[in-house]
Amino acid sequence: MISVRTLSKRHGDRKVLEGVSADVAKGETIAIVGPSGGGKSTLLRCLNYLETFDEGSVEIAGFKLRPNMGRADAQQLRDMRARVGMVFQQFNLFPHLSALDNITLAPRIVKREIKEKAQERALELLAKVGLRDRAGAYPHELSGGQQQRIAIARALAQQPDVMLFDEPTSALDPEMRDDVMEVMKDLAKGGMTMLVVTHEMQFAHDIASRVWVIDKGTIAEDGPPSQVVDAPKTEVAREFFGRIRK
Ligand SMILES: Nc1ncnc2c1ncn2[C@@H]1O[C@H](COP(=O)(O)OP(=O)(O)OP(=O)(O)O)[C@@H](O)[C@H]1O
Ligand SMILES: [Mg+2]
Repeated sequence: MISVRTLSKRHGDRKVLEGVSADVAKGETIAIVGPSGGGKSTLLRCLNYLETFDEGSVEIAGFKLRPNMGRADAQQLRDMRARVGMVFQQFNLFPHLSALDNITLAPRIVKREIKEKAQERALELLAKVGLRDRAGAYPHELSGGQQQRIAIARALAQQPDVMLFDEPTSALDPEMRDDVMEVMKDLAKGGMTMLVVTHEMQFAHDIASRVWVIDKGTIAEDGPPSQVVDAPKTEVAREFFGRIRK
């Protein structure tokens, strides 16, 4: 589903990603952890080309990404982004649209779905994230956790093959995290291919099929949670999981 080959990226003189190579099979759930500034968000954003990169290549959901894609590739990038959903720490819902309209917007515009069909699917997705009764609510009428679940439903409305999450629960109060985590757990169990940057130990340990520890622009460790979380080999992973446990 995803194949990353010697991906490198610089910001000026600073190397942010250094020759990252990795593969993700369909249905895997990858938890991405590591110290601040290590390159987690940058890697995720390169995977759906929200950021360009300098060297290497990415294959994702049947699309091939390379350095310096530009206007000539705009349609291809749009098609790719419909197959690769992304959810951010800040939910970025459209404030002037109801929950339902936030979810139906892309299907109606990008896929030109008829209103009734898009709404029917949106209501199913709202039920899936536990918010079937809030279809008419505007973002400011919803809690952070509810807004994030709407953002997840909005990404799912494009029927993606892959979902990328960048710290989806870290802007939320602890009591709201569980509802969002529950939705992500269901998605993982349902076979969605997911990459999740997270500080949630429980997610990394119990739900992820693999854990990547990213440090200084490289994947320092890559393996099942039983290995990476329970018996980390690198200092950075030991430090990271030790700190979180406390
Ligand atoms: N636009 C930019 N210009 C210059 N440097 C940048 C830019 N964006 C990111 N960086 C640098 O790239 C490095 C990796 O940043 P990134 O956001 O990917 O880290 P991260 O692992 O997601 O960190 P965090 O856990 O704090 O979110 C950092 O050193 C950061 O300062
Ligand atoms: Mg980040």
